[in-house]
Amino acid sequence: MSFFDNVAPVYDLGMSALGMYKHQLIIESLELKKSDVVLDLAGGTGFIASRIAPFVKKVVVADMSKKMLQKASRYSTIETCYTDAVKTPFDDNYFDAVYCTDALHHIKRHNEAAAEIYRILKPNGRIAVIDFKTTGFFGKAIKWVEHTFVDDSVFISPTEIVQLFAAYNIIGSAKSISRMEFLFKGVKMEKNKK
Ligand SMILES: C[S@@+](CC[C@H](N)C(=O)[O-])C[C@H]1O[C@@H](n2cnc3c(N)ncnc32)[C@H](O)[C@@H]1O
Repeated sequence: MSFFDNVAPVYDLGMSALGMYKHQLIIESLELKKSDVVLDLAGGTGFIASRIAPFVKKVVVADMSKKMLQKASRYSTIETCYTDAVKTPFDDNYFDAVYCTDALHHIKRHNEAAAEIYRILKPNGRIAVIDFKTTGFFGKAIKWVEHTFVDDSVFISPTEIVQLFAAYNIIGSAKSISRMEFLFKGVKMEKNKK
């Protein structure tokens, strides 16, 4: 059983207490519309997706932890999908928007994830990623906590994430949003450079 299967029963309590859920920022960053079909990649318990659901046509939570997805299935307004983020069952050009919060470092295979996001996003589709910086006192502390208690997370810096997605023709920018986190926002360009 994975770390996230084990912590699923108490995950939302901990994250809410720490103020980690940033659904309002996701809604604003992706400029979500009532007609949008949206993917929460590695979306865990579906807490954020449940807050986003009223603003869109459909939101799907994709995750590789069955226990996290069991929690997500308590929300009737969202769909769930048990899948690896780097090889999903979704059609090409399916989603209007994709977001991934606090999870890209757990997915680890960043190039494969970016290629998959490119494949399933519609042209001009939007992406938002929130992840941890590993610089400064708080960033170093987060990295230590993740590596000590969770997994062999692979972190990406704000500069690197811009370059990563640009290589898959998803063009965007990253900015710091707290002492520990950054937000990457991007748009899938019409044609793939690769
Ligand atoms: C820290 S939780 C974040 C969950 C949610 N995005 C949030 O903000 O609360 C990380 C999630 O990533 C999922 N995960 C890790 N690697 C994955 C992969 N390769 N494919 C799909 N989900 C993955 C875990 O199961 C877990 O639910």
